[in-house]
Amino acid sequence: MARKFECVMVTGGAGFIGSNFIRYLLGREDFAGKVVNYDVLTYAGNPLSLADVAERFGERYVFVKGDICDAETVRRTIQEHGVDCIVHFAAESHVDRSIVAPDAFIRTNILGTYVLLEAAKALGVRHFHHVSTDEVFGSLGAEGFFTEETPYAPNSPYSASKAASDHLVRAYNKTFGLQTTHSNCSNNYGPYHFPEKLIPLMILNALEGKPLPVYGNGMNIRDWLYVEDHCSAIWTIVQEAAYGSSYNVGGRNELTNIAVVTKICELLDQKVAPLPDGQPRTSLITYVKDRPGHDLRYAIDCSKLERDLGWKPAQTWETGFEATVDWYLAHPEWVEQVRSGAYKEWIATNYEARA
Ligand code: NAD
Ligand code: TYD
Repeated sequence: MARKFECVMVTGGAGFIGSNFIRYLLGREDFAGKVVNYDVLTYAGNPLSLADVAERFGERYVFVKGDICDAETVRRTIQEHGVDCIVHFAAESHVDRSIVAPDAFIRTNILGTYVLLEAAKALGVRHFHHVSTDEVFGSLGAEGFFTEETPYAPNSPYSASKAASDHLVRAYNKTFGLQTTHSNCSNNYGPYHFPEKLIPLMILNALEGKPLPVYGNGMNIRDWLYVEDHCSAIWTIVQEAAYGSSYNVGGRNELTNIAVVTKICELLDQKVAPLPDGQPRTSLITYVKDRPGHDLRYAIDCSKLERDLGWKPAQTWETGFEATVDWYLAHPEWVEQVRSGAYKEWIATNYEARA
């Protein structure tokens, strides 16, 4: 029997995956409850990503501006809204930023997760789902896949902080009996993705005729999953998975970075006006200094999720990717807003660091 909830608190709901998850959940017929989006709105959080949701779902959607490290506000929010399930996305999520400034990653990803777990335990929250990454498992060579049994071997401050949070979730289940589940997912792509990450950065730069900075030789591999397929996996796990269990989520879509960037260039060449010099957009590809500790390959074995819970993704790489490019072309106002302010500063510094 699928679990039912009255009030789901989504942390980090104004970010990329969190905003897609809220839209997905409120649109489902098997969920009649309320969603509390708990987000402090860092540079990566954007209320505009949920403007349609606020309008469409009225009182079923509540936004609370709060920090997950602030125990008092976390507790007050859980009590005030009768939260019976927490789906925890809030995090610092960009590997490059974790190399430049790890402090916020340690604070939010580790301390913040601890604060949430303590509050869930103290207030008897019925279910705690922790959203994590496959990067906790480290880097693969040319062969093999990450399974739920793969030993943890994080290589960046980001993945190390996520690994720590995964361990805390496990410990709260084993030691205190908190009813937890957790998932480790591969790289997501889709609408509302902040353009510091590979795919949206390349789409927007290629549109504007700017250089496309490919780290190292471009042969690093990521396993790309359409964001809504990640959302459906999370909801399936929250409803069905045994407490204390973890699931890997992936798209079986391994691509080198250079293949991803080339595909973006080709799609844009077909869909929008050519560059002023008449060259294909692949002429913008610029190889830059590699990321330190750059993981070579991620690839997920998600057969446990398929077998136990019957999950399967709805999009292929080809359909999901074209939908993503189309989404960015259709939402210039969202792009304009996220590209102002803190984003501009980051891009300037990042380019300087890699020149
Ligand atoms: P994101 O950076 O787009 O969004 C993070 C959100 O968390 C933002 O809205 C931000 O304002 C909020 N936030 C940050 N610090 C906070 C704090 N202290 N208190 C409250 N809110 C805070 O991230 P994303 O890409 O949507 O990732 C969401 C989660 O999914 C993360 O936990 C990440 O590790 C995990 N994940 C991401 C991917 C991916 O490909 N993006 C893949 C697997 C797992
Ligand atoms: P990213 O989107 O930052 O995700 P993650 O590091 O969590 O996998 O990067 C995806 C891949 O693309 C990674 O191998 C690094 C590479 N990359 C570039 O080559 N150029 C870029 O400008 C960025 C942001 C990433």
